[in-house]
Amino acid sequence: MRIVLLGAPGSGKGTQSQLLVKAYGIPQISTGDLLREAVSQGSALGLRAKAAMDSGKLVDDATVLGMIRERLGRPDAAKGFILDGFPRNIVQAEALQNMLGDLGTPLEAVVLMNLDLTILFKRLTGRRICQDCGKVFNIYTSPPPEGKHNLIQRPDDKEEVIGKRLEVYEAQTKPLIKYYEAAGLLHSVDADADVDTVFKSIEQAALPTRRA
Ligand code: AP5
Repeated sequence: MRIVLLGAPGSGKGTQSQLLVKAYGIPQISTGDLLREAVSQGSALGLRAKAAMDSGKLVDDATVLGMIRERLGRPDAAKGFILDGFPRNIVQAEALQNMLGDLGTPLEAVVLMNLDLTILFKRLTGRRICQDCGKVFNIYTSPPPEGKHNLIQRPDDKEEVIGKRLEVYEAQTKPLIKYYEAAGLLHSVDADADVDTVFKSIEQAALPTRRA
């Protein structure tokens, strides 16, 4: 299975990717996670990316494409992958198409996670992540058990940055909807439901014959 989860910040791409990893045994490739890892390691790439990420802008295409090329080349991606947060604009989508074309492994489906702006905002401002185990919670929809986790808020989940991220999504990422529609790959799901219901919608829309 080679699949892209497409959607605005906070639409649930990361949450659903985790469920797909468990159900299908293929890796989640999240450019956001790869970039955050580089930032926390203080690598040159991380230092370059940090300013763009903290202000809600996209990291430059050359950096992201280099990272993706390396990640798709690892052995675990040969059996399939879930792309989460990539591609983010038309340049990245075309580069991905070329990379996968060279490998003879084209994309099979693109799932668009539909969610209203007001709900996106609440999901992002409410998100908290455990610094120790990496588990993602939400103070409104899935609060963490008291005192058990060392919670942090992502720097780009501050209200003043969320607006910019949503603006960038509208201007640069939304055009991918038409792009993948034209390619016959797009499946839309309603992401305004509980986590398990959204997962079932994704399976029904894009993976109907995949699970035994
Ligand atoms: P990235 O990490 O990709 O962030 P994003 O796309 O903005 O998406 P999020 O991680 O914020 O949200 P999500 O859709 O995964 O939602 P989640 O499942 O966590 O990118 C961060 C930055 O890195 C970018 O701004 C950019 O600077 C850079 N970057 C990344 N990729 C790039 C690229 N390709 N090119 C250039 N730059 C790039 O859910 C959110 C919250 O809602 C959680 O609290 C969760 O618990 C809750 N929740 C989820 N599902 C449900 C549900 N069904 N019901 C109730 N609550 C739910």
